[in-house]
Amino acid sequence: MSYRFIDACLRRPVDRTPIWLMRQAGRFLPEYRAVREKVTFLQLCKTPDLACEVTLQPVDILGTDAAILFSDILVVPEAMGMELHFGTGDDHGPQFPHPVRTHADLARLHIPDPEQELRYVNDTIRLLRKSLNVPLIGFCGAPWTLAAYMIEGRTSRSFEKAKATLFADEQLAHELLTKISDALIRYLQAQLDAGAQALQIFDSWAGALGPEDYRKFGAPYVAQVVQGLKRDGNTPVIVFGVETGELLAQLAATGADVVGVDWRVPLDDARGRVGPAVALQGNLDPASLFLPPEALEKRVARVLEQADAAGPGHVFNLGHGVLPTTPVESVKALVRQVHAHTPPR
Ligand code: CP3
Repeated sequence: MSYRFIDACLRRPVDRTPIWLMRQAGRFLPEYRAVREKVTFLQLCKTPDLACEVTLQPVDILGTDAAILFSDILVVPEAMGMELHFGTGDDHGPQFPHPVRTHADLARLHIPDPEQELRYVNDTIRLLRKSLNVPLIGFCGAPWTLAAYMIEGRTSRSFEKAKATLFADEQLAHELLTKISDALIRYLQAQLDAGAQALQIFDSWAGALGPEDYRKFGAPYVAQVVQGLKRDGNTPVIVFGVETGELLAQLAATGADVVGVDWRVPLDDARGRVGPAVALQGNLDPASLFLPPEALEKRVARVLEQADAAGPGHVFNLGHGVLPTTPVESVKALVRQVHAHTPPR
């Protein structure tokens, strides 16, 4: 078992910079598309044998230093009682046909028992731990990001219904965020008990909130989740969001060990915003993977340089997920280049 990824998360010395990629299991891999052809996305998430197979694919094919559980952040709202579909074609993306808009809608949601309604997730983790030789990352969506989908009902550019609902009825907002946080603590604890060795909390829509609203509706609930977990000193938690330039200090104060940074803030600059106590994860622009080899190499070298300037504790990643049309050869070249790099101690 290689612990390079865990060591970097905890800002311990490493021989090489570790790398994994958000959405490393996904549509850019022909091997994923072959499995996915036979089942729907949700069936794939809920069939431990298949979820296990696609989790292992990028580790075997690309040589990443960590695996991330194959699942989705939206299985938690589904287990809380919300009907969930993934649309196809022009209507693609997640959809909740009966979104949360009122106190009565909220009252109908329950806190799931992870070993009942979400048992397939824990079964996948238990299966994965039998064959993995790199650490396994479990995950969930952050309370605000889940609330954004649950209120909006579908993906959106600006999440205006979700934001207007939170701003207009703060009591509803806090009750919903509290219920989601309680569900997430139980869910993540079950993932740890099943064998997850690190956790990432995806606050993908953090940047839709300004700093004052994030201080009210975002960060405190991420902190509740992080601090509500029973874990040992070798089990890091990563928090990640998009467009978080003005929110990085709040993310670093949640109790997480690692802050994931998108490509909009250079890592040495991010260090100034998060302080010395956390590791940094990121932050190559995913579009770089469409460049010819030499141009890609220059951009990767630049991220490594900025990470070195930021000091110990760097996990290489993209600034957001791998895009579905990314050439596999580029991703392989990226992993090779990062593995050739020894960070300063
Ligand atoms: O490899 C991994 O990163 C692990 C698996 C993973 C998926 N989703 C698989 C997936 C993880 C960690 C997620 C998290 C997730 N899901 C987030 C947070 C990360 C982010 O991207 O900001 C969000 C916002 C979701 C919600 C969601 N699920 C969206 C917006 C979509 C895309 C819909 C579309 O059609 O473009 C999904 C579907 C999804 N989740 C896919 C995968 C591989 C594509 C499904 C397919 O095969 O059709």
